[in-house]
Amino acid sequence: MQDLGPLIPRNRAIHPVPHDPDYKTTLTRSPRLPLLSMESTPSEETGPRFGHSLIGPLDNNLIANFTGGESLAVGERILVHGRVLDENARPVPNTLVEIWQANAGGRYRHVKDTYFAPLDPNFGGCGRTITDENGYYEFLTIRPGAYPWPNRANDWRPMHIHYSVFGHSFGQRLITQSYFEGDPLIDLCPIAATIKDRSQLDRLVAPLDFSKSRPHDFLAYKFDIVLRGRRQTMFENKPEGM
Ligand SMILES: [Fe+2]
Repeated sequence: MQDLGPLIPRNRAIHPVPHDPDYKTTLTRSPRLPLLSMESTPSEETGPRFGHSLIGPLDNNLIANFTGGESLAVGERILVHGRVLDENARPVPNTLVEIWQANAGGRYRHVKDTYFAPLDPNFGGCGRTITDENGYYEFLTIRPGAYPWPNRANDWRPMHIHYSVFGHSFGQRLITQSYFEGDPLIDLCPIAATIKDRSQLDRLVAPLDFSKSRPHDFLAYKFDIVLRGRRQTMFENKPEGM
């Protein structure tokens, strides 16, 4: 059996509380009764599995994938990339990474999004890829716009991209979101503020990675995803990670 090395546990006490008064919908989303521990079943632990053949060549190109490459999305072209890593910084290959995001104007292609910003007919806002043997992934996309959301009188989400990392089964799916270095709205966002530990929040902020930018084409931002351990990425749905 492969030696995975020592597990360096994270500090679970710094995970956001389920109900945060400044993030008003956490009131209805947070449990009111003690949680029950349910045994998982073999189907949850073993499937489904994904093969590379299920991923199309444009699936990680959100600029082109909605139209099949016929027309390109409006907005600032960016590359977001990074690696999926375990607690000892070893790469996690063959992992499905999915993203979804608002368009350049801050509007999602979703029936419940009624923001004034128009939909982009060439932008769906979803992409997926599988990490390579080095745990590496990348998406070509457009920089998502900030958008207002109903909470307090005037709250705005910083520019962000939602991430899903899929293990070997539904029970291992992890959800998080990345922000962009230098966005002043990060420090004004009640959702970001539910993370009380600054270093945890900082690890959700993707820095500009000029080395991966392509001249006359796009800037790049780097977002590594650490599945567990002391430097674990903050996941919304799994305080304990994988
Ligand atoms: Fe969002």
